[in-house]
Amino acid sequence: MKATLTLVSAFLAVLNEGAFCQSIPSGFVLLNQAYTFPGNASGCHHAEWRKRPPTDTTIATYKNHAFTTEKGFQEEFTCKDNQLLLKSAKYMDQGPYEFICDGDKTPVNLDVLYALNESAVEMDNITLSCYAHDAKDVTWLHNNKRVLHYKTDGSVNPGKGYEKRASLEKNCFKTGNFSLTITRVRKADAGIYRCFVDDETVKGNPHASVLHVNEKRSGPADQTHSSCNEAILITLTVVFGPVLVISVTYLITTEVRKRQSTSTTADDTPETDRMLMSPTSPTTPVNESQSEVTHPVQESDSMENKPSNTRPIIF
Ligand SMILES: *[C@@H]1O[C@H](CO)[C@@H](O)[C@H](O)[C@H]1NC(C)=O
Ligand SMILES: *[C@@H]1O[C@H](CO)[C@@H](O)[C@H](O)[C@H]1NC(C)=O
Repeated sequence: MKATLTLVSAFLAVLNEGAFCQSIPSGFVLLNQAYTFPGNASGCHHAEWRKRPPTDTTIATYKNHAFTTEKGFQEEFTCKDNQLLLKSAKYMDQGPYEFICDGDKTPVNLDVLYALNESAVEMDNITLSCYAHDAKDVTWLHNNKRVLHYKTDGSVNPGKGYEKRASLEKNCFKTGNFSLTITRVRKADAGIYRCFVDDETVKGNPHASVLHVNEKRSGPADQTHSSCNEAILITLTVVFGPVLVISVTYLITTEVRKRQSTSTTADDTPETDRMLMSPTSPTTPVNESQSEVTHPVQESDSMENKPSNTRPIIF
């Protein structure tokens, strides 16, 4: 009786694994980017990286603490830190691979992604496109972490850090539009996003996006203002610069003439030097401190008006 029970549970476990396909880890890499395969050969007597059927070939082996990359793979692959590195992923590189360390197999299904490039400024909203036909559920992943999982029955499962920030269109299962909107974008949101349907077995279209997050700088209103300040400074210098120079020269010449008429000794020179310096130095700091004062006022202004984008379903 006990034996039958264990047999049944073992059978169920096998069924489970098959149904969810969770036993095969999947790797992904962007087109033309480097990919490090799972598996560290440093603890192995004999290790091997292979392309699984239908190709079924050995890419590299590790024996007696030495690596050998097989013929035909030497240009594309290299060994680095006891691991196998694909230098620049081509679309043809996707497929099943395995790492075998003393008979222990680590499989990986490599996906090579052609991804859309998207950019957002911190605290803004972004929508990443994805469409699918007749989907039963949708899953969005950020790198390897779940952003959300949404099923036809309405059950939702937001990922950590995306609560109340990730949303889909209200009628997404009717329209097939599973585009993901992320509100209040953070620096940490940058990375690769992938869209799957039907328990992560089918790719949505487009399947992948790369999100770049740019730092929030001072608002555009502030920038125009500071360039305005610059313009004023330039005008001041252009208009009053010559006037200043002329008046200084005039002052000096009259002063020198006065001195010359009274006495012609050597202690005149330091005084004229002081006269040359004094009129120019106090004028510049005044202008600088003016532009500094206006900055903080403008910045707090631009922070205030943020449009609140309310979405039909926010998880
Ligand atoms: C591989 O394993 C060795 C020892 O177990 C470790 O020192 C090394 O850092 C590992 N390499 C990588 C890339 O993880
Ligand atoms: C799909 O939905 C997103 C919002 O989730 C929207 O911005 C986009 O315009 C929609 N696409 C079409 C083709 O209507």
